[in-house]
Amino acid sequence: MKSFGHFDDAHREYVITDPATPWPWINYMGTEDFFSLISNTAGGYCFCKDAKFRRILRYRYNGVPMDDGGRYYYIKDGDTVWNPGWKPCKTPLDFYECRHGMGYTRLTGEKGGLKADVLFFVPIGHRCEVHRVKLTNTSASKKSFQLYSFVEWCLWNASTDMENFQRNLSTGQVEIEGNVLYHKTEYRERRDHYAFFGVNRAFDGFDTDRETFLGLYNGFDAPEQVRLGASGNSLAHGWSPVAAPRFDLKLAPGESTELIFVLGYVENPQEEKFVAPAVINKAPAREMMAAYATPEQVEAAFGELKAFWDGLLDRFTVESSVPELDRTVNVWNQYQCMITFFMSRSASYFESGIGRGMGFRDSNQDLAGIVHLIPGRARQRILDIAATQFPDGGCYHQYQPLTKRGNNDIGGGFNDDPLWLLFGTITYIRETGDFGILQEPVPFDNQPGTEVSLLEHLKISFRHVTDNLGPHGLPLIGRADWNDCLNLNCFSWNPDESFQTTENKSEGSKAESLMIAGLFVAEGKDFAELLAHPAVAADPDYVAQVGEAVAAMEEAVKRHGWDGEWFLRAYDYYGRKIGSRENEEGKVFIESQGWCTMARIGAKEGLCDQALDATVKYLECEHGIVLNTPAYTRYLPEYGEISSYPQGYKENAGIFCHNNPWVIIGEAMAGRAEDAWRHYRKITPAFTKDQALRKVEPYVFCQMVAGKDAVRPGEGKNSWLTGTAAWTWKAVSEALLGIKPQLDGLLVEPCLPAEVGTYKVHRRFREAEYELTIRLTGKGGSRFIPYRPGRQVLELEF
Ligand code: GLC
Ligand code: GLC
Repeated sequence: MKSFGHFDDAHREYVITDPATPWPWINYMGTEDFFSLISNTAGGYCFCKDAKFRRILRYRYNGVPMDDGGRYYYIKDGDTVWNPGWKPCKTPLDFYECRHGMGYTRLTGEKGGLKADVLFFVPIGHRCEVHRVKLTNTSASKKSFQLYSFVEWCLWNASTDMENFQRNLSTGQVEIEGNVLYHKTEYRERRDHYAFFGVNRAFDGFDTDRETFLGLYNGFDAPEQVRLGASGNSLAHGWSPVAAPRFDLKLAPGESTELIFVLGYVENPQEEKFVAPAVINKAPAREMMAAYATPEQVEAAFGELKAFWDGLLDRFTVESSVPELDRTVNVWNQYQCMITFFMSRSASYFESGIGRGMGFRDSNQDLAGIVHLIPGRARQRILDIAATQFPDGGCYHQYQPLTKRGNNDIGGGFNDDPLWLLFGTITYIRETGDFGILQEPVPFDNQPGTEVSLLEHLKISFRHVTDNLGPHGLPLIGRADWNDCLNLNCFSWNPDESFQTTENKSEGSKAESLMIAGLFVAEGKDFAELLAHPAVAADPDYVAQVGEAVAAMEEAVKRHGWDGEWFLRAYDYYGRKIGSRENEEGKVFIESQGWCTMARIGAKEGLCDQALDATVKYLECEHGIVLNTPAYTRYLPEYGEISSYPQGYKENAGIFCHNNPWVIIGEAMAGRAEDAWRHYRKITPAFTKDQALRKVEPYVFCQMVAGKDAVRPGEGKNSWLTGTAAWTWKAVSEALLGIKPQLDGLLVEPCLPAEVGTYKVHRRFREAEYELTIRLTGKGGSRFIPYRPGRQVLELEF
């Protein structure tokens, strides 16, 4: 089977050895508010804070050829022009390697006795990309050659940049000073920011006008100036500003030289924007250039970045007999959780960075993957999210990262949303013990003067469900629950409207959700435990009410939500069953099996075991568990978007990886180690054998893998930004490895087959550090370790 690369565990890197990967395999750089996407051929772009409004580099999405635009280095050696990352020229290289590491990417190319090693990273403390280009003459003779670099500026708003040409082709402006090319489009008016591309040595020529550099009818693979070995020294006025400096270099045999490029972003206070009429204030850019002027400075900044990631990833490590498990847990799953937390669902090679804000439910779930790493930021996120809630507990479905205000772009009224705030907050408190967050004042809809405590927000969230029950005493689904595509009140026949935002016919609707019911019971139990804790000491009457509401919901599920062999999925607008043997298609769904088994509804009566058996029997396939079966074969307006997808994709019987961990956790709670472990291995990319089939990165989870009804089952899509990251983290760290944060300590309760043997877990928890040796003997059980600061070394047998 063809392989495109391999893991380098010691360096926490993935090494790509063939540049023609089946899809661009990307990495992210940035830890604060400046972020970059970089593919294995240096494609991608960067932005500051908001991928739509503060886009720095231009990128061509979903284009032909794939992945065009990036930070390109061209080497012209005699008549040969090549790039260290293979693209865009695609000149065959003598050697190619791409190492994606924690917050950096390193590309090495070699051709005709010249080696180029380019390290890209976003340092801590500055808003820039640093590119260290090291060139070595590996031949036995002297070499004279030219190096060009190239980036294309986006005119800031990534969406108007692609549509408003009548304006944009006249607005581009640049300035040049010393070794730095400045991009100052729109700075003359309302913007207080500009970008620059500079280097620590004088250039021998440059271009800032794309047409002069490339030639109007050439692609990135054939720049006119590179062909000529020249530069136009062009000054962009309107059209398409770029930055393309040139260097004429000579190297003796064995000799090396190093150039340091900085691609930076600057914001100036209004009153300090200009130093002379129309001349921008370059002091902050000069400061940044000076910070990365020498190889020693770059080495130190790179060391600081490494230390940042080492510090984080040292908080939870495992050492077992299964390398795929170790590298997923120790490196890639946690890394992906951090990236997903930073990006939400905004910018990837499947999300344009233009369309989506921060989702209410998505962002709450993302917390589960990072709260043990960056609890301070998790805390802030919770307060930001809660501030977008309405007084009745309902929520904007998303909010904008720049303003932190809710927006209605994909509608509201998703009735699972409020419960995710309970999930996020409880997850946070269990990890940190910070009960104080419950007393923080938080407004509604960001309106000053409306503040109530976060605890009140949680109570209102809980009540939003009990205030919105349907005819069977089950939660009304509203616009949709977690499954955005099960649109039971939408009835859309107009192809020009979105399923998400269409006016709903909810008046008189009987549409109820068993997924929300399970979520309510699971979160309700945890909520009751939190309320009763001495640090919260809520009114006992209220705690009792919560308990009663949970018990009533469990009853309703047992009475009206059980189909005989599995949990129903929903009732539709008319009150008819969905996810029942009575249906012809869509008989069994995953979400209700996952949530109702995690909530242990009807466990005593054997319902959980039956539901899990049915999941294995009907939904599991070679590559994971599909969302529903049989897939819908035609459009059903009463179900909406789910039936719009061809069979086997996305929410219509795709393996929607996000929900597989729900079943894994449900299996573990039922003590079914073999099943839990098998489900986990199927969706975890480190275990995938066929990289060509999987197509997307083998080091991160993807949102969806094509299901058994698809044309190519096992083909992955939508990698990186997905709730799968946080949920698989929760599944593997808590359910499988068994390290479960509780309000007052850690509960150790592994659920893995005995063949996994003995493993070691190093876990930092608040001010404590645990060194656990866990021996699996097959007898099971659990052990509670009360929290106390300091180091504890324990050997435990299960
Ligand atoms: C997407 C959305 C998420 C939704 C899921 C299922 O991943 O980001 O909010 O729950 O799809 O439809
Ligand atoms: C749908 C997608 C779903 C996503 C939703 C909201 O088209 O299938 O996964 O959550 O849009 O963007």
